[in-house]
Amino acid sequence: MTNAHVTALRSIEIGTTHIDVALKFYTEVWQLESVAEAKGTHYLRGTGPYHHILALRPTDKTGVVRVVFDAKDRASVDALFGQAKQNGALKLDPPAALKTPGGGYGFGCQDPEGRNYAVVCEVADHADGSDKPDRPRKLSHINLNTRDNDVSFAFLRDAFGFALSDQTGKFRFVRCNADHHSMVLCFSDAPTLNHIAFEMPDIDSIMRGAGRLRDHGYPVEWGPGRHGPGSNVFCYFCGPEEVVIEYTGDMQQIDDSHKVGMPPDWKWPPRRLDRWGVCDFPSLRVERAQHMFGFTEDGYRIHG
Ligand SMILES: [Fe+2]
Repeated sequence: MTNAHVTALRSIEIGTTHIDVALKFYTEVWQLESVAEAKGTHYLRGTGPYHHILALRPTDKTGVVRVVFDAKDRASVDALFGQAKQNGALKLDPPAALKTPGGGYGFGCQDPEGRNYAVVCEVADHADGSDKPDRPRKLSHINLNTRDNDVSFAFLRDAFGFALSDQTGKFRFVRCNADHHSMVLCFSDAPTLNHIAFEMPDIDSIMRGAGRLRDHGYPVEWGPGRHGPGSNVFCYFCGPEEVVIEYTGDMQQIDDSHKVGMPPDWKWPPRRLDRWGVCDFPSLRVERAQHMFGFTEDGYRIHG
């Protein structure tokens, strides 16, 4: 029998110490749309159908509350809960109806390194989901730093059904659908957030989005360029509280015939950092910011 697997990366909730500043930035500058507010947490959508792709919760400390994945139906959610339990989840909040905006059914858990994940289904998504120029449609991927990359990867693979797409000396790129990667695990020293990537509809949108960020005092900290693994186009920024965010797009679409690349397959010539050969090294600011924020302790609790 095939193991249950998640079908997509749906959303991320982050804790912010300056909710008004964050909300203004992510709506007016980043160009998401506020769709709901409950208990002080604000829910923002992209142009795609997902009810929300970013939630902003007021907290004392900046950090990730949880990363949320989609499953096909309730039976899959229940099966994935069993797999999380069997594969080393430290904490669990069992499947039940969700009372948060958009509703649905799901469970929360904490992986062996203390990251909070949730798996949900039956969320009330939007009927309209067409692209709009220069605006993010959905989350593309979340990049997380790891202390023990093998353990963190094994959990995503065995509990949630992720498959390895490519591995470099620094990262494991893993997928749960045709997108080359929805999650990236960085070989590092602590389980912190590396960055959050939002998918733009096309390359012009990435560039005009970068111009808009620049106009508002948020310079490009790395990029533009085209990555090796996944071949996606990128521009990185330091958003409010220095959370690292990326506009990306044009990611490689793959299936099980994809040949997994390993570190020797991903060596760049000296000073080359992207496929185009146009981008310089990332700024010191963004390199520092890529290791600043951990997960909140209670974020695995999704039922209040
Ligand atoms: Fe990225």
